[in-house]
Amino acid sequence: MRILPPTAESVAEAAASLLAGGLVAFPTETVYGLGGDATNDRAVAAIFAAKGRPEFNPLIAHVAATADALSLVRWNDWADRLAGRFWPGPLTLVLPRADASPVSLLATAGLDTVAIRVPSHPIAQALLRATGRPVAAPSANRSGAVSPTRAEHVTESLGENAPLILDGGPCLVGVESTVLDLSGNRPTLLRPGGATREAIEEVIGRLDLSEAIPAGESARKSPGQLASHYAPNRPVRLGAREVGADEGLLAFGSDIPPGAMLTFNLSPSGDLGEAAANLFAMLRALDRPGIGRIAVMPIPETGLGLAINDRLRRAAADDGTGSRR
Ligand code: TXA
Ligand code: MG
Repeated sequence: MRILPPTAESVAEAAASLLAGGLVAFPTETVYGLGGDATNDRAVAAIFAAKGRPEFNPLIAHVAATADALSLVRWNDWADRLAGRFWPGPLTLVLPRADASPVSLLATAGLDTVAIRVPSHPIAQALLRATGRPVAAPSANRSGAVSPTRAEHVTESLGENAPLILDGGPCLVGVESTVLDLSGNRPTLLRPGGATREAIEEVIGRLDLSEAIPAGESARKSPGQLASHYAPNRPVRLGAREVGADEGLLAFGSDIPPGAMLTFNLSPSGDLGEAAANLFAMLRALDRPGIGRIAVMPIPETGLGLAINDRLRRAAADDGTGSRR
């Protein structure tokens, strides 16, 4: 695989590869995505194969600007207000598929909705403009594993399955986009993420949270919201206020219990934005030989804490096979 520097030539090469049906990993402000032409069934099939992703789990179509979304979905007033406030940025909107939508049915797993996002990262923007087509892009990791926030994470997780990687440095938000379903009677939060619930509710009022919080047993509208996800190889223990000698500690704030084998602090000052940006890289760094278990200190459930705790609960959930990946 090749890791390309973020130059105009690299972006042009990556766009040409996408238009030819190839896959390209690229940075967004949330996490790195593994992109393919969303209108090309074969490219979309290659994304599922590269990730080992179940085909019932639909992909987000990425476009450069709101105007590019209008032919893909049936737009509505909620979408208009939210796009005006959050795009480009870490918010994904699920809307009814337009009759003539060019998005591959495989990308949407046969659903009658399409998830759309306009990322703000300059490299993602340049790539989408150069491609001129919607780009389907899940996080660029093996299905079920920890999401990548650096180009090296993509290589570690996907190897040769990510033939071309645009290196945009570390992702600033660090957790995936918020996924909001606007196709029904009420705006429904499907996945907490980089756009906070509080900020969204300021624009369109109360959200239906029953699909997203907390990780429950019920069947979910967002098929990606499986209980076990974002999982390191080692077991994860949440709500840690003390720590064992065989544990690695994922700390938060200034009051850290002593005695861990290794400690990484998400944010010594207790800043949730900093914690989100560090979350996946520090989980990876603690997931190493010699560490028996990863202990995680409590993190507040407000603002970005909702997304952080969602990812941590899934990292801690058993995958039901009795073995960790
Ligand atoms: O921040 C992000 O959203 C990143 C970057 C690369 O843009 N992408 C990402 O994609 O996280 P992925 O595939 O890892 O997660 C997409 C989520 C999944 O939970 C999926 O089930 C849900 O969005 N989703 C996609 N299309 C949907 C649809 N039509 N209806 C409901 N949920 C949908
Ligand atoms: Mg993912």
